[in-house]
Amino acid sequence: MLAWVFRPLPFMQQCRRLYGDAFSVSFVGFERPMVMISDPEVIRALYAEPAHGLPPGRDTILGPILGRRSVLLLEGADHLARRRLMLPPFHGERMRSYRPVVEEIVSAEVDSWPRAEPFPLHPRMQAVTLEVILRVVFGVAEGPRLARLRPLLAGILQETASPLVQLIGIATQRFGGRGPWARFEGQLRAVDELLHAEIAERRSAGGLEERDDILSALMLARFEDGEAMSDGELRDQLMTLLLAGHETTATALAWAFDLLLRNPEALSRLRDSLERGEDDYLRATITESLRLRPVIPLAGRRLAKELEVGDYTLPPGTDVTPAIWLVHTRADVYPDPFAFRPERFLDDGPDTYAWVPFGGGVRRCLGAAFAEFEMRIVLREVLTRCELHKADPAPERVARRNITLSPRNGTRVVLERRRAAQSALSAA
Ligand code: HEM
Repeated sequence: MLAWVFRPLPFMQQCRRLYGDAFSVSFVGFERPMVMISDPEVIRALYAEPAHGLPPGRDTILGPILGRRSVLLLEGADHLARRRLMLPPFHGERMRSYRPVVEEIVSAEVDSWPRAEPFPLHPRMQAVTLEVILRVVFGVAEGPRLARLRPLLAGILQETASPLVQLIGIATQRFGGRGPWARFEGQLRAVDELLHAEIAERRSAGGLEERDDILSALMLARFEDGEAMSDGELRDQLMTLLLAGHETTATALAWAFDLLLRNPEALSRLRDSLERGEDDYLRATITESLRLRPVIPLAGRRLAKELEVGDYTLPPGTDVTPAIWLVHTRADVYPDPFAFRPERFLDDGPDTYAWVPFGGGVRRCLGAAFAEFEMRIVLREVLTRCELHKADPAPERVARRNITLSPRNGTRVVLERRRAAQSALSAA
């Protein structure tokens, strides 16, 4: 358990060496062991079965924050109904319409960075992804409400990232909520009030069709029986999108920059391709960095039906998850697996079940296309607007931050100089 918490990648590597493609790990506090798998064919079989349930533990911490109607916590028909409603605004033309807002957010952010002194990039990426969620997903305009929401949400995100608050939270929830958990609940209530006020104002103002944020799209969407989401449910889904989409995307961006700044050939090839207005090397860079540094290590299921894993037949009720980093570093799928080489994805995308940073099947990340879209804009804008260098020669270590695998020192960089912004807007 300690090795898993403090040195996750060496621990995984050691399990692979000792036990091969499948093994089970017993975590303290969980009633059953978790079976970890890394053979793409077995992962295909796991994710292809829609009847499997949620992995254990998801609602212990997230339940009180996200609410019981969250798409991340519902199962079966209720879950699928939410996915159907929530997927469209994260794709296609609708998604592409968010580009100018994201570009504007990144450009303001880059302008605020200090010159010629080291600073950690990870918190700056968190600021960008929070702002994207507030403006694109929640669609809250500049004004007093946004000014109040911003620090409150940043506070909630900060607190949910602290293992101490999580533990205290679990312990004190049952005792009437005192101490840090009570403070946390106070923040949550304040956010709820602001979100309900925003929703009520939008309903009475009308004109939702003309708005292009995701909250407005969700307010217009209808379930198959013609019903709309209630205000309480809208609040739950907004909190879900915030918690699922903010830290993950910020961390994926921090890793992408870290890997690029430590691999100058890939960086210069990316810069050249951006200058030519191309984006295939950019896409390959994102695929490769999510392969080598998957942000979420596990995306499991509780089996509803038997699953064949090598010589074993796992019975219903078993908890099974791909060990994502182990899948991504299989030498038989990815030659020279620990090298950062975006070229490997230039001609062909990855095999669906050998590249699972977003999980798979009916619970695959709802914001995956949006996250990659946002990453493309941020990488392109930052790299064309300024010249960054790594601040520390020693490789960045992988540390656990809440449920993510994060750069331990926050990807410290130095901004050498700013460039003219003309090429930043050129590529589509
Ligand atoms: C690089 C960034 C991201 C990563 C690595 C990531 C990863 C994941 C993973 C591993 C899952 C679980 C999938 C499974 O169990 O099969 C998930 C679920 C989810 N993600 Fe993401 N995510 C990212 C960004 C986002 C964004 C930007 C949003 C939305 C704004 C989002 C919304 C969701 C939601 C709603 C779910 C629950 C889906 C369901 O249960 O049906 N994610 N994500």
